[in-house]
Amino acid sequence: MSKAKYTIRMVELKDIPVVMDINMKCLPENYTQSFFIQHYKKFPKAFLVAEVEGRVVGYIMCRVEHGISNFKFTLTKKGHVISIAVLPEYRRMGIGYNLMVKGMEALKEYGATEVYLEVRVSNYPAIHLYEKLNYVIVNRIHGYYADGEDAYVMARPL
Ligand code: ACO
Ligand code: ZN
Repeated sequence: MSKAKYTIRMVELKDIPVVMDINMKCLPENYTQSFFIQHYKKFPKAFLVAEVEGRVVGYIMCRVEHGISNFKFTLTKKGHVISIAVLPEYRRMGIGYNLMVKGMEALKEYGATEVYLEVRVSNYPAIHLYEKLNYVIVNRIHGYYADGEDAYVMARPL
């Protein structure tokens, strides 16, 4: 499966159940259908899916927030990568990387000047992916996850 061709496109309403299924299979952080639909409605360009032979195999869901910059003492529009996942059989093919690149492009189009995310401190694959994209660790939140694990906050300018 290491050479499968994939395409990346904006999510559609009909994809939401599949996206929720991928989210359930890949991550312990799950959300209601209405949470996904809210993001689809509000930030459609930053909610993307990856397709292989017509099958959705991965997604990224982002939003834009107003808040204090991670890089300067000012308020700014920050992109927030809420969730990204790729089905296990389709990993290490560049899909996650490209979902991130396209997601960040969309966040920039919405006016974000930087982007951030939370990631489990034990999640080496994801941390490596973000480091490859020049994200740096800007904070560690103790007990961020429901099971008590810490999160790194990772961020980069856009
Ligand atoms: N070990 C080490 N580095 C890795 C690994 C791994 N298992 N997987 C990816 N990377 C790094 C590598 O640097 C890789 O580049 P390389 O293949 O040239 O070495 C780079 O990331 C890009 O890899 P991709 O193939 O683009 O990533 P993939 O499509 O496999 O998706 C993802 C990565 C999304 C993290 C996937 O492993 C996944 O779905 N994991 C489970 C869900 C998850 O942890 N999501 C992130 C949670 S945090 C959040 O959502 C904000
Ligand atoms: Zn801690």
